Amino acid sequence: MIEKQEVQELFPTTVWIVDLKPAEAALLNGRLKAEIEKIISPRPTVPVGSNWQTPQDLHTRPAFADFVKLVEMAARGVARFLQVDQHPMTITGCWANINPPGAYHPTHNHPNNYLSGVYYVAVPDSGSRILFQDPRPSMIMPRPRQFTRLTANAADAQSKPGRLLIFPAWLRHSVPANDGRTERISISFNLMFRQFAETMAAPMWNPTAGKDKG
Ligand SMILES: [Fe+2]
Repeated sequence: MIEKQEVQELFPTTVWIVDLKPAEAALLNGRLKAEIEKIISPRPTVPVGSNWQTPQDLHTRPAFADFVKLVEMAARGVARFLQVDQHPMTITGCWANINPPGAYHPTHNHPNNYLSGVYYVAVPDSGSRILFQDPRPSMIMPRPRQFTRLTANAADAQSKPGRLLIFPAWLRHSVPANDGRTERISISFNLMFRQFAETMAAPMWNPTAGKDKG
């Protein structure tokens, strides 16, 4: 009766994972850690569960020039993958987070940007995860024999020093509490098309082309 039964996966949500070579990561992370420490010290007291954050202008500071190059290179790779590299992007915000043991970050996304990302400078001895929420509204959730990317409503990515993650800015994510004994240090950033309003926001349909209006 059935000749063929196939699956077509529609609208996948993508998270890009970029790992530096360990030796280069160690070198870069040593420098970044010292710079972040300099910006945050003397550390103000923060409530239990909270963290320290730098101002959001790290991408404009000369000490972070190498880091900016890394983000730009990774973002170009993402843009090529999505075939949108003809539209230049720029970093719109970049800040560091120091999460002591017990600190967590509740679910959020990054409005008014195309891509967001995080780079890990230091990860606690117990490891560290970032948790992404399924962006689709799910109403029926049967318990499968095993959760997979098709049936789970959240997915995580493991972090490690020298790892850079890039994901769509609309994708909601959270960071579970640091359950290790050492600090988790990361640098977050947002990317947006440099000339969005001028070059991309006008209607895409061509009024002279006839019926095919979107
Ligand atoms: Fe975030």
